[in-house]
This record gives sequence, structure tokens and C-alpha cells, in this order.
Amino acid sequence: MLTQEENELLTHVGPGTPAGQLLRRYWHVVAAAGELSDAKPKKRVRILGEDLVLYRDRSGTYGLVRERCSHRGASLYYGFVEDDGIRCPYHGWKYDACGKCIEQPFENPEAGYKDKIQHPAYPVVKLSGLLFAYMGPPEKKPNLPKWDILVRQDGVKKVDICEVLQCNWLQAMENSADPTHTYYLHSHTLKLKGAKDFVPFHYQTLSKIDFELVIEPNWAGIQKQRVFAGDEVAVEAPHPLIFPNILFVPVRSGYALHFRTPINDLNTQVYQFRFSPTKDGSIPEQPKDPSIEYVGTKNADGEFHLDNFASQDHMAWETQGPIADRAIEHLGEGDRGVIMFRKLLRDQIQAVQNGQDPAGTSMDPTKDEMIQLIHEGYSAFSFAAAQEQREA
Ligand code: FES
Ligand SMILES: [Fe+2]
Repeated sequence: MLTQEENELLTHVGPGTPAGQLLRRYWHVVAAAGELSDAKPKKRVRILGEDLVLYRDRSGTYGLVRERCSHRGASLYYGFVEDDGIRCPYHGWKYDACGKCIEQPFENPEAGYKDKIQHPAYPVVKLSGLLFAYMGPPEKKPNLPKWDILVRQDGVKKVDICEVLQCNWLQAMENSADPTHTYYLHSHTLKLKGAKDFVPFHYQTLSKIDFELVIEPNWAGIQKQRVFAGDEVAVEAPHPLIFPNILFVPVRSGYALHFRTPINDLNTQVYQFRFSPTKDGSIPEQPKDPSIEYVGTKNADGEFHLDNFASQDHMAWETQGPIADRAIEHLGEGDRGVIMFRKLLRDQIQAVQNGQDPAGTSMDPTKDEMIQLIHEGYSAFSFAAAQEQREA
């Protein structure tokens, strides 16, 4: 249970809020590269409560700038994307990806006025078809974590963009520290719907759940592993909740990273990056930017259809309320992962307030190597294998 005040502390993400300041110390997925095209190289995005425009200029550089022009506030979303920046549609001020004002067509160039303008802008880096942005203090910009499934080439990559989640980001993240939810929310739901493949892996009796706090140079999180009762049951690969807003999870055909980017306090955009390694380690042919699939969670009546994991999860998270009222909850032994995550979040908010760097962020270029999330000794195909075993 949290007081109303504690709940706000952990959930609010806008500029200047304690959790917002913490979240701004990490890189966030703001779009999939495939969402921008030559015909439409720009996208309006709201991230951590800030209204921004993402664009790719004709030289291929990505920019993420405040939507309102620094001159008199017109929307840069309607601006002209040019070779070296974006030009406001109103009076033509032009900004580069660093927010430098590089042209003011109707000002005296000798006055040097443009040099006094710094338009709010954030760095964007493309990695494996995802566009990551850093919205914190420039001098604190950490390494962009090089997750193995993003960096590795020996697999098929895809990006799922989920229907906007209409609730606060913390509900999604608490779920990632809540491994008991898969039994009823996913397996039981699918079984009662008559789905043949109701994911028997999650339908087994649990004997225990291990949680371990992990703090590495370029990431931190909570490593989880479910241990099932009985002999000769498939062992789940340990997989972490990655602080502050990512889940790494083995899936039927490989692995996935779920990035939960807060749009504002009440909405969250989930990107699911999927990686299916080839069995022989070969490098498959695939598009430069992974293909995108849009995942709907609701039916035509606006109700959750519950036909897939995303819809089931979103149902549980959204129905907790726009921001779950944690003053009326009753946590039990099964929620110890949730309690652990909240403590980590609270501690890291405090660390940033004390002027320290938050866990799992490093600016050291010598510590920028690939991060191995996939555990050796566990088959990527264990889910399918477990099912085949049961059906045999
Ligand atoms: S409002 Fe953008 S140039 Fe005037
Ligand atoms: Fe789930």
C-alpha cells in the first residue's frame, strides 16, 4: 500500500517531477524507424508529457525537437523537412537536430539573433530499427545499452507497436515483477477460449519464484526465474525486468524486449521488439529496418478481445485505473517482486535527487559492449518444445 503522495512520486513523469527526472536519465524508444518514410519523414510524438516532433532530414539525421516553434509557437510538425533540419511552416525559422537555429529568413543576419536561440531538442540514435531518445541533462547522457537481441544479426527481427495503453507506465512495469499473473490472465483465459495452444508452459504449478537485483554498468533490473513443481518440467530461462521500463522475455519462437515508453501520466506506448534466432546461427535476409506490425488489443466495441497476451495484459493494467490507486490495494506474499521494484524505483529517484547517477547508467565508452540477456543453456525454443512434449 502506498499513500497518495508516494503514489504520485512514483508515477508522475512530466518535466520537473521526481520520477520524470529519473526516467529522463535513461534512453527511451520513441518510434520504430519504419514509422518514418521518405514521403512522410516526420511524426508527432508525446514522450514523458512533452509534445515533440520526430523527423529524419534528407541527410538521414534524426531529430527530436519541441513541437512548438521558438519564434511564436507554430507547430513544427507541419514544417518542411530539409537537408539539414526542419523549417517552421509559419515564418521559416530552421532548426538542426541539436536545436540550433540555423536560419531566420526575415531577420537581419548581421544581428546574430539566430545564435541566441536554442530550441529544445533531444538526441536520437537508431539501433536495430528502433529510435531511442535521451531527454535528460546533456552532460549526463549515458551509453545507449547494446542489448544482444538488438545487436545480433543471426535472427529475424520484428517490431510490434501495440495499441496505446491507456494507463500509467508503472502498472505495466509492476506486472513485469509479477510472475504469478501468467497462470490465470494468460493460460487460463486462452484455455477457456478454446485456444489449442494455451501455452502450457505457464499452466504448470509453481514451486517458487526467484528474484535477484542486478546492477551492471549499463543496465540494472530484477532477474526473475520461475521454478515449476514436478520432475522433468521445462526450466524457465531467467529473464529480467530492466529498470526502469523494459521487460526482456523469452517467447514462443525466441526472445522479446518490451519497451514501455510513458506518453504522459495516463498513457503509455508499448513497443515489442522480437528476435527469432536461426537454429544454425545463419544470418537471414531481412529488411534494413525490421518490419512493423500493429497489435490491436480491443474489439470494435472498444472492449478487450483477450485473444493475445498483449490484450490480456492491457486489460489487467488499464482496469486498475488510469493511475492505480495504491492506497486501497492489499499486497500479499505473491507481490514481493512488485514491492522490490517499487523500492528500486524509490531508491533511484532519491539517488538522482541526491545528485548521484541512477543504477545501470554509465558514460564510460570503454564499458559500452554488448549486453547479454540470453542465458546460455536454455533453449530459445523451450516454449515450443515444452508444448510438443505435452502433445506427444
Ligand atoms: S512561429 Fe515558427 S518561424 Fe514564426
Ligand atoms: Fe503478461
